[in-house]
Amino acid sequence: MALSVVILAAGKGTRMKSSMPKVLHPIASKPMLQHVIDAANKLNAEQIIVVAGHGIDQVRELLKDQKVQIAEQAQQLGTGHAVDQAMPLVNKENQVLVLYGDVPLIKQETLTALCDQIPNNGISLLTVKLSNPTGYGRIVRDNQNSVVAIIEQKDASQDQLLINEVNTGILAGSASDLTAWLNEVDNNNAQGEYYLTDTIAMAAAKGGVNACHPSSEIEVEGVNSRVQLAALERAYQQEKAMRLMDKGVTLIDPSRLDIRGNLQCAQDVLIDINVIVEGDVIIETGAQIDANVILKDCVIGTGSHIKANTMIEGAKIGNNCQLGPFARVRPGTELADEAFIGNFVETKKTKLGAGSKASHLAYIGDAQVGEKVNIGAGVITCNYDGINKFQTIIEDGAFIGSDSQLVAPVTIGQMATVGAGTTVTKDVPAESLVISRVKQKHLEDWQRPVKQDKNEDKK
Ligand code: UD1
Ligand code: CA
Repeated sequence: MALSVVILAAGKGTRMKSSMPKVLHPIASKPMLQHVIDAANKLNAEQIIVVAGHGIDQVRELLKDQKVQIAEQAQQLGTGHAVDQAMPLVNKENQVLVLYGDVPLIKQETLTALCDQIPNNGISLLTVKLSNPTGYGRIVRDNQNSVVAIIEQKDASQDQLLINEVNTGILAGSASDLTAWLNEVDNNNAQGEYYLTDTIAMAAAKGGVNACHPSSEIEVEGVNSRVQLAALERAYQQEKAMRLMDKGVTLIDPSRLDIRGNLQCAQDVLIDINVIVEGDVIIETGAQIDANVILKDCVIGTGSHIKANTMIEGAKIGNNCQLGPFARVRPGTELADEAFIGNFVETKKTKLGAGSKASHLAYIGDAQVGEKVNIGAGVITCNYDGINKFQTIIEDGAFIGSDSQLVAPVTIGQMATVGAGTTVTKDVPAESLVISRVKQKHLEDWQRPVKQDKNEDKK
């Protein structure tokens, strides 16, 4: 049977104290709601319907290019009412899985197991045992240990409050059964709300309730405050770190790595502390990433060493390269094998050939640099005239002396040498030397200025 996923996300999230709806707050820089949608997509859901209310415009903005429908719940009258708002959009033939926009770390495997075990005319329910069940709906079982109802905290008797098996809220059933049962739900309870949980007793009286459990509590933890958001962020990061170590990556401190995207690492990669990974990053065998490095949408080749405080974005780094400390590698940078980018060097839209070096203090933008080129300290490609950008081409084996400016468009020929302090405005032929600086002069009668006596005037 095809699957429709309904994601409840209409609540305000008062305790977040935010102008942004709660479900848009991020875990690993991705909105919580998006985590839930991604989980739903992994189930190959035919439909995903988000029930939105508070901040619906911001939710719409997030969803605008996704195959996700929105059902508006203008007033939050309870979880049963919320699911009911989605039902008109649901394909009547389908199974329905109810998820929550503020329960972001739910796993595909857990949901697959839940959906695979829906009793005929019954409900599959995700429950968990907690040492402190306060606040949750309690799972009431009969003397055959079958689930017969859910009692909310505020409606529970003293005896029922002692039950430590609780409702995670996540459940699945057929669209036709849920529609019928939701029609029967009323709001005669302590909170005056239409409870989704009231459908459990109805299912128990029909096909029965199957209780499933998540592999860890983290999967079903909800976020109501920024403290809980931070706790789930850590849990998420810890799991990513554990998986990397299992694959043969050394993390100097697994609690000081932040993965905000997808990181693929080969064996024997070493990652030091406070590294941040964003977007899609691939690190090949044996590469070493030192402390405080930020890697975004890049590939780091085999055996390359990224030294401390380096930022790399939108770049492809070859094998056995060395970068940093304090290098800034911007989008469109491609380094061939054994290239070297040292401290305070910035590159952008630049290809550096094999074995080429820019060891200190340089800006290389919009450039094609050949092999075994040496770029001295303080060299700048002047790629911009204030309106347009131009290319600099440096051919194999060229030597660019320190503090030179290469005013683009310009080509430095093979094995050419640019003397220190030269402003190159015209192409330099291969194997030639170019110097533009003033010839050094010695002024025999020059003296250092002497300090003037400030009291001179007052005398
Ligand atoms: C609900 C369950 C409870 C369970 C707990 C797990 C009910 C009646 N109770 O209680 O058994 O242990 O979750 O966390 O279902 N929402 C809407 N529209 C509404 C009401 C809620 O979209 O009208 C959304 C909220 O934004 C929230 C989620 O549904 O994300 C849960 O609602 P909440 O009011 O927090 O339910 P609980 O009282 O925690
Ligand atoms: Ca809640």
